[in-house]
Amino acid sequence: MRKLENQTTTTEFLFLGFGDLQEFHISLFLIFLIVYIFTKAGNILITVLILTDQHLHTPMYFFLGNLSCLETFYTSAILPRVLASFLTRNKTVPLPGCLLQLWLAASLAATECHFLSAMSFDRYIAICKPLHYSIIMNNKLCLLLVAASWVCGFVENTILIIFVSKLIFCGRNEIDHFFCDFIPIIQLSCTDTHKVQLVLTILASVCTFPTFVLTITSHVYIISTILRIPSTSGRKKAFSTCSSHLVVVSVFYGTIIIVYVLPKTEMLKELNKVFSVFYTVLTPLVNPLIYSLRNTEVKEAWRRVVSKHNINLQ
Ligand SMILES: *[C@@H]1O[C@H](CO)[C@@H](O)[C@H](O)[C@H]1NC(C)=O
Repeated sequence: MRKLENQTTTTEFLFLGFGDLQEFHISLFLIFLIVYIFTKAGNILITVLILTDQHLHTPMYFFLGNLSCLETFYTSAILPRVLASFLTRNKTVPLPGCLLQLWLAASLAATECHFLSAMSFDRYIAICKPLHYSIIMNNKLCLLLVAASWVCGFVENTILIIFVSKLIFCGRNEIDHFFCDFIPIIQLSCTDTHKVQLVLTILASVCTFPTFVLTITSHVYIISTILRIPSTSGRKKAFSTCSSHLVVVSVFYGTIIIVYVLPKTEMLKELNKVFSVFYTVLTPLVNPLIYSLRNTEVKEAWRRVVSKHNINLQ
C-alpha cells in the first residue's frame, strides 16, 4: 500500500476513442448519429408492432420484441457518449459514470446472450419437435425464459461491478476504447486484479458459456434436422424460419469471440475497436432489418398497419 500513497488516485478517465480518426470527428458524428437514429427507430417500431399485432403474439415474437427493446437500451448506453465526444471533443468521464456504463453495457450484452439462446431453443423445438411445440413453449415457460434472461444478466454483472468498484485506479487514466469496457478499465488499475479476473472467469463459465453451448447445440440439431428433410421446398421453408436468427447469432458471437476470447496479437489489438463497433453499434442496427425484411409474418404485420391506417383516413 505504501507505494500507492504518493500517487494520486484517478477519479476521471479519458477516452482515446478512435485515435487518429478523430480528425474526421464531424463526419464520424454524422455517421454515428444517423446509425443511432435508425437503430432507435427500427427497434422501437419492431417492439411496438409485436406488442400491438395479435398475429405476432407467439413465443418467437415475444423474444424478438424483448430483444428489440433491449437493443434500444443497449445503444443508448453507449452511443450518446460517443456522439458527445465527437461533437464537443470532451473525452473525460468520471469514474462512477464509467462504472455505470460498464454495468449497463455488460448487463445488457449478457441479457442478449441469454435471449439468443432462448430464441435458439425456441427454434429447436419448433423445427425438431414440431408436434410438441405448443405444449413445451407455453406462455409460462416463455415468460420464465424472458424473466430469467433479464434477471441473470443484471445479477451477474452487478456482482462483477462490485468487485471492479473495489479496485484502485491511479497513474495512467486513458481508456484506449470508445466506451468503458471491462478489459480497458481493468488494465488501468494499480491494485491486484486477479480477484476480479477470477470472478469474471467464474461468472463467464457458469452463466455465459452454458448459454453459448445451448445456442450452438440447438443450431447443430436444427441444421441436421433441416438437411434430413427430403423435399427441397420443405427444406427451404424450414430454413427460412431460422436463417435470420442464425445470421444474428453468428455476427454477435463471432465478433464477441474475436474481441474477448482470441489472444491479443498486435494486429487483433488494432482491429478490436472495429469489431467492438460491430457488436455494439451494427448488430442493434441490423437486427430489426434482418428480422423484418426476411420474415413474411413481420412483413404482413407491417402491411396490416399500413392498410388499417389507409382505411382510417378514408
Ligand atoms: C417480452 O416477453 C414477455 C414474456 O413472454 C411478453 O409478455 C412481452 O410482451 C414481451 N415484450 C415485448 C416488448 O415483446
